[in-house]
Amino acid sequence: VIDTRIAGAAELSEVLAADFEAEGRQALASRQRFTVAIPGGSVATTCFPHLARVSLEWSRIEFFWTDERGVPPEDPDSNYRLARTLWLGPAGVPDSNIHRMPADSPNLESAAREYSKELRRIGGEPPVLDFVLLGVGEDGHVASLFPDARPASMNQHADVPAVTAVTAVTDAPKPPPRRMSLALTVLTGARRCVVAAFGSSKASAIKDALNNPESALPVASVLRRSARVLLLLDPDAAAQLSGKARLTGEARALAGKLPRR
Ligand code: 6PG
Repeated sequence: VIDTRIAGAAELSEVLAADFEAEGRQALASRQRFTVAIPGGSVATTCFPHLARVSLEWSRIEFFWTDERGVPPEDPDSNYRLARTLWLGPAGVPDSNIHRMPADSPNLESAAREYSKELRRIGGEPPVLDFVLLGVGEDGHVASLFPDARPASMNQHADVPAVTAVTAVTDAPKPPPRRMSLALTVLTGARRCVVAAFGSSKASAIKDALNNPESALPVASVLRRSARVLLLLDPDAAAQLSGKARLTGEARALAGKLPRR
């Protein structure tokens, strides 16, 4: 059973902020560091202002991205720019804690390898992040991992399996085509993964991911393989779910409100 909350976007943002804070306190207490990966899109625009108000020791939090577009950091399409504007700037996160994904590099493959080294330097080998936040595309993509995408390229020396932590994407169906993305293993290997979807355009991907055990959608893989995943849906994104899933989601959300007996 996937821990699912169904509520309006503002309430979901508060649930997310509370979860982020709890996970952060736990990581800082046990490992003195909190490593996170954040996306772009509507999750960023909706939730980042709430996350900026969480009271955590920002100088001990390391920010990576789940994915980035192949544009410069000041470009309106940049996930980095969005996060700086809505969260990292307002919260006063030190520059040294912000690991921008260089998806605008002309040599995407080597830039992905460099980012993977940075991820391993801080997240270990294999890189384990504390907290991964993901949105969901209408087609069921997460980060910049799209359905039916070619497997990550094997490296030249076939004898060494390419354990890619970061993939270069040159044919993304969601513009721009050039992107960089954390690999599925890194997303699902995180200690905590939160997936958030708003709006009716996500309803069919969410239904397939939750109701179809054979679903090959990237969001389905994340929900199935992550050890501790929290799924946040507004009512429109949950509209096609079977009564049971909806009921559990709503009942759990309501239960959170009921006065303790
Ligand atoms: C990006 C995001 C991407 C996003 C999905 C959903 O670079 O666009 O990181 O993974 O989360 O495309 O985007 P929306 O929530 O805006 O539909």
